[in-house]
Amino acid sequence: MAKPIQILLAAALLASLSACEKKAAEPVAAPAVGPVAKASIQELMKSVVEPASAIVWKTPDYFNDPEAAKKIKPEQADADWAALRKGAVALSEASNLLAMEGRVVVHPGGKLENEGQEGNLTAAQINEKLKTDRAQFLVFAKVLQDANLQTIDAIDKKNPDALLEAGGKIDEACEACHKVFWYPGAPTIQ
Ligand code: HEC
Repeated sequence: MAKPIQILLAAALLASLSACEKKAAEPVAAPAVGPVAKASIQELMKSVVEPASAIVWKTPDYFNDPEAAKKIKPEQADADWAALRKGAVALSEASNLLAMEGRVVVHPGGKLENEGQEGNLTAAQINEKLKTDRAQFLVFAKVLQDANLQTIDAIDKKNPDALLEAGGKIDEACEACHKVFWYPGAPTIQ
């Protein structure tokens, strides 16, 4: 015959098991949080895109000077490549931030730095264009990301020539989007 303590333990086990079953049967609530586009495009440009691109474009002089490169310690070169890679990764992910739904160019009441300059769109016009031409904006963000993935590849191969070429593609990607979404009427610099 089971002792009272064993019966009690068995009962407790049964109770906890049924509690588990009950819990599992309850519908799991969907997570209440997700990505929220808080910063404006202008803020993203100033806080993420511009500083990250400055890192990527600022390659040490010895990268393209084989004689000078010979005098650089391998640890120093590794550190320089690693620093560049941080900028390239940040810039690559910035493209995803640009592509987020609900991002405005400036917050309500805000102005572009050069608002009113001839040939430039106003903040209100850009916000409107971001809605009507969103597909095109996403293509430009993707072009920037592709250029950055090429940059990361060049960095991983420690190939200065490929890095220079990819850096040029980043520059073109910035310019392509700006020409359409920022200053479509700006005079072309020859
Ligand atoms: C997908 C579109 C897009 C891409 C790609 C893009 N930009 Fe922009 N950028 C904009 C828009 C729109 C504005 C205008 C809003 C503004 O004045 O900030 C802007 C503005 C800027 C500004 C001015 C910020 C200010 O002070 O108002 C800088 C600097 C800038 N971009 C740098 C860059 C650089 C560098 C790159 C490439 C590495 C780049 N952008 C790529 C859309 C883009």
